[in-house]
Amino acid sequence: MNLTIIGSGYVGLTTGTCFAEMGHHVICVDNNREKIRTLQSGSIPIYEPKLEDLIRKNVAVGRLEFSPDIASSIPQSDVIFIAVPTPPNTDGSVDLTYIEKVAREIAEVLKPEMGYKVIVDKSTVPVKTGEKVRQTIKRYAGPDVQFDIVSNPEFLREGCTVDDLLHPDRIVIGANSERAMNVIKRVYQPIHAPILETDVNSAELIKYAANSFLALKISYINAVAKVCEKTGADVELVAEGIGMDKRISRHFLNAGLGYGGSCFPKDVKAFINISRTLGIPFTLLEEVERINDSQHTHFLDQIRDRLWVLKDKKIAVWGLAFKQNTDDIRESISLKLCEKLRKEGAIVTATDPKAIGTARSRLEELGVTPVEDMYECARDAEVLIIATEWSDYANADLQKLAEIMRNRIIFDGRNILSPANIRAVGFEYHSVGRPFIEEA
Ligand code: UDX
Repeated sequence: MNLTIIGSGYVGLTTGTCFAEMGHHVICVDNNREKIRTLQSGSIPIYEPKLEDLIRKNVAVGRLEFSPDIASSIPQSDVIFIAVPTPPNTDGSVDLTYIEKVAREIAEVLKPEMGYKVIVDKSTVPVKTGEKVRQTIKRYAGPDVQFDIVSNPEFLREGCTVDDLLHPDRIVIGANSERAMNVIKRVYQPIHAPILETDVNSAELIKYAANSFLALKISYINAVAKVCEKTGADVELVAEGIGMDKRISRHFLNAGLGYGGSCFPKDVKAFINISRTLGIPFTLLEEVERINDSQHTHFLDQIRDRLWVLKDKKIAVWGLAFKQNTDDIRESISLKLCEKLRKEGAIVTATDPKAIGTARSRLEELGVTPVEDMYECARDAEVLIIATEWSDYANADLQKLAEIMRNRIIFDGRNILSPANIRAVGFEYHSVGRPFIEEA
């Protein structure tokens, strides 16, 4: 099939590439000409495992193209996917101006003689946005164009996007016509995954409900972690014990500094706002957000307790990305910690296997020194903070670390080091919801 993807950001680029890998002909469009030039020249603007190879392969066989122009791509496409950003407004509501603009642009291109088109919303949007997009296109394109609107939310996780797209747990298709439903089912035919067919409103709601539920699981285990800290229990064992119940599952029960990234913080906020607007405030989610915000401040309080005064103390931070296997620093808890440490006058060095480049200007603003090598970053540090769950950090050479740090103190905000290894080398070790280990 011939597909156009409007918006070549994270979701658009990765989804378009995977559609090409499934055998479709895909044109990824973006109004940022610089980005399109970069993609056309064979470079990709983000770090995502497996993506670069897949782009190269599909461009080489002619299944994947990049273009700044929807006027030429839409006429030759059966399906047009909208994958533009839906950022939060300051009041927590969702900024839908990009979606509305794209709807008008599509309408200007659509002509009755082009035949039937399916327009699919992949961006995360409040329930009933599909209806607004339909009305807008109808208004600007005239009554004779033939099209349907579909909601097909995306559940990919950064860092494992390609696998998530090619082997999803489920595909949700929200359509209000059988014709549109059948077209989108054909798009996904090469994928072996259960398809849930819904109406448009339900599909839009599934995305917010799913992300908010995952965020809720994280805040739940983080709240349990605080109880563990007070009682000497171990949150890892508690998570194991509750996660063995299939109704609960162990996934997304890793206690730590809390969730960051481009989705959870934004989507929880938006769901709170949507429910408030509907007159049914979702106060449970307000608490999820409050717990998440308190995770890193509580962690910082513990570091301050230990060092007494942070001013002029050298503190090393391992991890800048909001999670492992990405260079994305959006809503990174690590950067929030860096900012607060700097405000108190600490001397901060920071490292990351992939995100130093994306974080560089923010680090400069904060006065944090970026260091490529993780051990050099920790040299002479009074405390080492682990803020991102990279496997390099889980497998760190603790003996080497002990030799170069000023104090043998680690604050592990992602619970990735093994207490047995810590004890063997004799570090003082603080983590989240696990028993404190004293320096040997
Ligand atoms: C998330 C959803 O998982 C995905 O389905 C949706 O499409 C987009 O949002 P993503 O933001 O890429 O994906 O990352 P994810 O792996 O979900 O992690 C989000 C944050 O939660 C990270 O900061 C991570 O460190 C944190 N996290 C995750 C925890 O603190 N504990 C956990 O158990 C899991």
